[in-house]
Amino acid sequence: MEKKRNPIVNWLLFFGTMVVVFILGLLASSITERRAEEEFTFKPEVKIAEWEPRNEVWGKNYPIEYASYMKTAESDYKTKYNGNAMIDMLEVDPRLVVLWAGYGFSKSYNQGRGHAHAITDIHNILRTGGPTNETDGPMPATCWTCKGPDVPRLMDQNGVAEFYAGKWSRLGSEVVNHIGCADCHNNETMELQISRPALIEAFQRQGKDINSFTHNEMRSLVCAQCHVEYFFDPDRPEAKGIQYLTHPWDKGFKVEEMEAYYDERNFSDWTHSISKAPMLKAQHPGYEVYLTGVHAARGVSCADCHMPYMSEGGRKYTDHHIQSPLANVENSCMVCHKEKTEQLVKDVYERQDRIIENRDKLEELIVRAHVEAGKAWELGATEAQMKDILIDIRHAQWRWDYVAASHGGSFHSPVEISRVIGTSLTIAQEARIKLARLLTELGHKGEVPYPDISTKEKAQKYVGLDMEKLNKEKEDFKKNLLPVWMEKAKERESKMPIVYTGTQE
Ligand code: HEC
Ligand code: HEC
Ligand code: HEC
Ligand code: HEC
Repeated sequence: MEKKRNPIVNWLLFFGTMVVVFILGLLASSITERRAEEEFTFKPEVKIAEWEPRNEVWGKNYPIEYASYMKTAESDYKTKYNGNAMIDMLEVDPRLVVLWAGYGFSKSYNQGRGHAHAITDIHNILRTGGPTNETDGPMPATCWTCKGPDVPRLMDQNGVAEFYAGKWSRLGSEVVNHIGCADCHNNETMELQISRPALIEAFQRQGKDINSFTHNEMRSLVCAQCHVEYFFDPDRPEAKGIQYLTHPWDKGFKVEEMEAYYDERNFSDWTHSISKAPMLKAQHPGYEVYLTGVHAARGVSCADCHMPYMSEGGRKYTDHHIQSPLANVENSCMVCHKEKTEQLVKDVYERQDRIIENRDKLEELIVRAHVEAGKAWELGATEAQMKDILIDIRHAQWRWDYVAASHGGSFHSPVEISRVIGTSLTIAQEARIKLARLLTELGHKGEVPYPDISTKEKAQKYVGLDMEKLNKEKEDFKKNLLPVWMEKAKERESKMPIVYTGTQE
């Protein structure tokens, strides 16, 4: 017979095992906690200074957001009408050259690319010309305002009006970091903040305090710092004759309200070289058009679609690869919509197709109106005879441009965009009826021929641009002045310290 074990020994064994299990458990839980701490306790690697313009410095503390943001440098994604590839819009649509005759946009105009290209693209575009020194060139310093976080840095250092003063070339060695963190974030709290005074001032004139907006509204307003209509106003009290960046919203955001604002001040961006009409150039009223759409009405923000939440290794973050949401319908749309990707893409394309069909017709009408007005001048028309016609041309083209330049507008607000095209078609037709009457009065018979503007080159020749000269000036600039800017900037930035917090071994 086997001898029974003493019950006391059994109990001892039992309690001994319990203690070991308990200690092991404690150990395991402390290990996982440590690991969690390592992963989730935020240890800033560097101290980020106020208005730190260098994105890579912020990137040391926020590597995931930084890495996704830097993907805006990619340029190989194309949707039916948009995407991030370099597209020469004047080649795609040579009518634009005639619509903008006498203005910089007829020299070159490319479709917007990702934020990481903002500085390179403004160097390369023919519109900024080929300056040879700090006081040379066609554009004012104001043109840098939407290109990157060196802008708030300089405004803070030297003053806002002082920033806008002088020529674009004055700030070539100063504005060198592309759009980035300090444009949208506070350096200490990382909260979203507005870095561009023009937006704050425009809301102030409407009686609204920028701090009164909700967090959700801020997720659109950070974009509205740049994706908005603006003009350079030398008559503002604080402007003192400087090209002061101003949003024309004192009467409201609608196309008619901005038009009335410009008309009242007799403002024009340029005089059309063929029709002599006093023209307005719409910049990119993306935010204004978005406000009229159903998504804005339901509280969907720009960031909801263009900066969706992502999940990587169990960590949730905001995708900073700002681009066409069609590249990632799953995260951008399916948070709210249950339809399949193909259906949602089809919805977007259908709206764009229908609108672009009408926009093309409208462009032809406005080109004809310019050419017919040119003919009327040639036949000796008087200012008085032309006055109403030129105002019609101004209004028709302003409304067309509001549509064309509101990138994404055909999706953001298809109904409003169609309405605006409708009003523009009517005004353009009226201008042409008046022109037909006047041309008959002046003894002209038959139709004024439509110019051969089947290619960009032909159109540029037709409006009298010397492209060879412009290209040569740009090449010289890139060979001579641009490297000097870059060298100076490197030298200056090498003296800006990066302060390590020392928390990292
Ligand atoms: C165009 C504006 C914009 C720019 C530029 C920008 N961010 Fe953001 N960022 C946002 C928005 C919008 C959110 C979401 C904030 C929210 O809803 O609370 C965000 C969120 C964040 C967060 C919070 C965590 C998260 O992922 O949601 C961090 C950290 C961050 N950004 C870092 C950066 C860094 C680093 C850069 C520069 C490389 C940068 N951001 C550039 C708009 C911007
Ligand atoms: C500081 C000015 C600025 C801010 C702030 C800004 N943008 Fe931009 N954005 C630009 C400029 C300039 C370009 C064109 C860059 C180029 O073509 O080189 C651009 C381009 C884009 C593009 C086209 C990129 C592509 O791949 O097709 C999208 C989409 C876009 N921005 C969306 C947004 C959204 C959404 C926000 C807010 C979360 C925002 N932007 C905030 C200035 C800004
Ligand atoms: C945060 C939620 C949200 C996100 C994200 C969102 N939507 Fe919507 N969408 C809505 C709401 C709400 C409506 C209005 C429908 C209603 O109220 O019945 C709407 C309406 C629409 C409509 C019909 C309105 C129209 O313009 O004719 C389309 C099409 C649409 N969404 C497509 C998209 C696509 C494509 C995306 C992604 C790029 C997207 N939505 C992202 C919430 C969202
Ligand atoms: C409901 C989703 C949604 C919202 C909200 C939204 N967008 Fe878009 N956006 C889109 C879609 C879809 C397109 C069309 C993309 C395409 O054609 O490839 C687009 C296109 C654009 C483009 C042109 C993109 C390109 O590749 O050139 C810009 C710029 C843009 N949006 C900026 C904004 C800004 C700024 C806001 C807020 C004021 C905003 N969007 C709000 C879905 C949205």
